[in-house]
Amino acid sequence: MNSSITVAVTGAAGQIGYALLPRLASGEIFGPDVRVNLKLIEIEPVLPKLEGTAMELTDCAFGALGDITCTADIETGFGDADWVLLLGSMPRGIVVDGRKIEERSDLLRINGGIFTDQGRAIGRFARPDARVLVVGNPANTNALIGRSHARQEGQLWMAMTALDANRAAAQLARRSGSEVRSVRRLCIWGNHSPTMYPDVFNAQIGGQPGFEAIGSDQAWLESDFLPVVQQRGKAIIEARGASSAMSAASSALDTVMQVARPTEAGDCFSAAVFSDGRYDIPEGLMCGLPLFSDGGSVRVIDDFEISDLSRRYIDASVAELIEERDAVRDLIG
Ligand code: NAD
Ligand code: LMR
Repeated sequence: MNSSITVAVTGAAGQIGYALLPRLASGEIFGPDVRVNLKLIEIEPVLPKLEGTAMELTDCAFGALGDITCTADIETGFGDADWVLLLGSMPRGIVVDGRKIEERSDLLRINGGIFTDQGRAIGRFARPDARVLVVGNPANTNALIGRSHARQEGQLWMAMTALDANRAAAQLARRSGSEVRSVRRLCIWGNHSPTMYPDVFNAQIGGQPGFEAIGSDQAWLESDFLPVVQQRGKAIIEARGASSAMSAASSALDTVMQVARPTEAGDCFSAAVFSDGRYDIPEGLMCGLPLFSDGGSVRVIDDFEISDLSRRYIDASVAELIEERDAVRDLIG
């Protein structure tokens, strides 16, 4: 092995964790020559189940798997982590005080508190240049809470929108009769919620401008494509009786690779990062934006054109992010 990397994963015994960990340990994500040390974090009562997951990982006999630590102690868990994947939180669909949690934003109060202590511990104990991806919902605002407590400018905090980008790419490929891999420059703007805005106008599909590739059909765009992508999470919960896990795990790992490897010239990848006022989006939100990685650092691409239609949808999603932020001001550090 040439080098090693330490990845901390919270909620590691949950359903996304179960789909994500074998791929992380297999060598597929960081390469076969990089030893992957796993710090698996769970709440105390779930540690026995987590030990079972760790036993299975060992039994996969992956060449790239290094040490496995199972812990409920976040200082130990985040210690020296290069990457932190924050899955640990409740999914919607659960019943709290006799009421079913229907929307991701209804999880704000239930999950938001997890990210105060975890953010602080990541700031203090993870590497000062750690990459942190929040998957637990509502992902954008949880990431905002965590980042505010970490207070580490060198860490890259993101909330996941890659699943939305993958969902949108699959729908666009189907509609245009193109290969899914030919969908490029696809940005998810705003929140991981029903207001998210998958931007067809800046996308390229099969080498064509995205809007042309869908037959310049605005009615399909607004009445079919947008609602399907925006409500895909709910459709999966209704069909499976549980929220997306395989596709969520795969998209989280896509984000890791998109950050760790250089973005192709002319392409972008999607994640929510701390806004700095670009595109007239107010500073200080965790907002979905078009990103570029040089394999080391990540920057916001700033030459996307915003049509009037896009502006309307982006503004609505940003307004929702502001509302969520204001609802948890007491949790922001
Ligand atoms: P799950 O219930 O199967 O697993 C969650 C795990 O987190 C459980 O094992 C639980 O014990 C653990 N956990 C809870 N609180 C914790 C804490 N404080 N520290 C460490 N671990 C803790 O849920 P899941 O299906 O794996 O989903 C996890 C989260 O991801 C949910 O919030 C879900 O809504 C969200 N999600 C987000 C996206 C996205 O695109 N951003 C996609 C799918 C799911
Ligand atoms: C998803 O988009 O699949 C996740 O955010 C889970 C959910 O609650 O929809």
